[in-house]
Amino acid sequence: MDSNRLRSTLARPIALFASWLIGASAYAGDVERGRYLVEALTACDNCHTPRGVSGYDLANRFSGGAQTFSDKTYIVRGSNISPDRETGVGGWTDEELRAAIVDGVSREGRLAPVMPSDSYKPLTASDLDAIIAFLRSARPIRAPLQTPQRRNGEWAPHPMPGAATAFDDASLADKNTRGLYVASLARCMSCHAEEIDGAPDYRDRLGSGGKIFRNAAGVVVASNITSHAVKGVGAWSDDELKRAITEGVSRDGAPLRPPMSTLSKAHFSKLSRDDLDALIAWIRTIPPKE
Ligand code: HEC
Ligand code: HEC
Repeated sequence: MDSNRLRSTLARPIALFASWLIGASAYAGDVERGRYLVEALTACDNCHTPRGVSGYDLANRFSGGAQTFSDKTYIVRGSNISPDRETGVGGWTDEELRAAIVDGVSREGRLAPVMPSDSYKPLTASDLDAIIAFLRSARPIRAPLQTPQRRNGEWAPHPMPGAATAFDDASLADKNTRGLYVASLARCMSCHAEEIDGAPDYRDRLGSGGKIFRNAAGVVVASNITSHAVKGVGAWSDDELKRAITEGVSRDGAPLRPPMSTLSKAHFSKLSRDDLDALIAWIRTIPPKE
């Protein structure tokens, strides 16, 4: 066993022991597991934390997002989800938080679909509790949202096929199931599936890419990551895929552009080795598409 392997094998029991020693039991869930899920996969900061010059402004973590999202049926901003009792979610019960995270329903009713609850549907009960524990461990920040929230649509749910309900812990022992879990939480397919009428077509276009982004890097189109040998990533090695996902570097060594590069650096670079291996195994099961 090499030393890296040994270190990662020992890391979790040591972390668990350490959290037991310092009494992390103040929360129902596992705070460090919650941190991992949020930072490597679910990227809650992306919409709920303001940005400073060099990335997320973590001193004001979860106090509300910088971007305003608007569509025909809503104008919303990522809410203050810090534990402040008045302007954040400090006064919410675990049950209310669970409903917001996986069902997209807040105290005031249906949340706009920008809040990606559909992708969080497969969260296991313990992982959902871990995320809630991590939110509760953050600093309460008093920050009322400036933009009035307006939402008035009927939104159809779009969970990933096979990931529409909570997984149980035991099912994650299966590599492909774990890969699907990771892909859903990290919302890979919300960009890498072509959209039909504004919604990703998971049935026929899963992995085919095609979603268009206009940003400082120009017009960027989400790539085809199906196993097609020419149009997709079927001919890529595992290491090439891992580098694209965790470092934002394409097969030919050129840097990928935002939003992929931003997500790689801020989030996917933190994926555990097991989750990354499972994700790659799952991506390889996506049938080839042109
Ligand atoms: C892609 C952007 C995005 C991501 C990622 C995201 N959210 Fe949200 N979230 C929103 C938006 C926008 C709203 C407000 C929607 C509305 O008002 O209808 C919201 C609302 C919420 C609410 C309801 C708060 C309230 O006061 O009503 C909670 C709780 C919440 N999000 C938690 C989370 C957690 C936890 C994560 C990560 C696991 C997360 N969100 C990831 C965009 C996002
Ligand atoms: C917010 C949208 C978005 C999300 C979420 C996202 N991607 Fe991407 N991805 C893109 C875009 C856009 C590109 C193209 C970047 C470019 O051309 O510079 C890309 C490129 C890639 C590439 C490089 C393919 C190539 O041909 O160069 C891979 C591999 C990839 N993404 C995998 C993933 C995986 C796996 C996930 C989930 C862990 C993911 N992406 C999440 C938007 C996204």
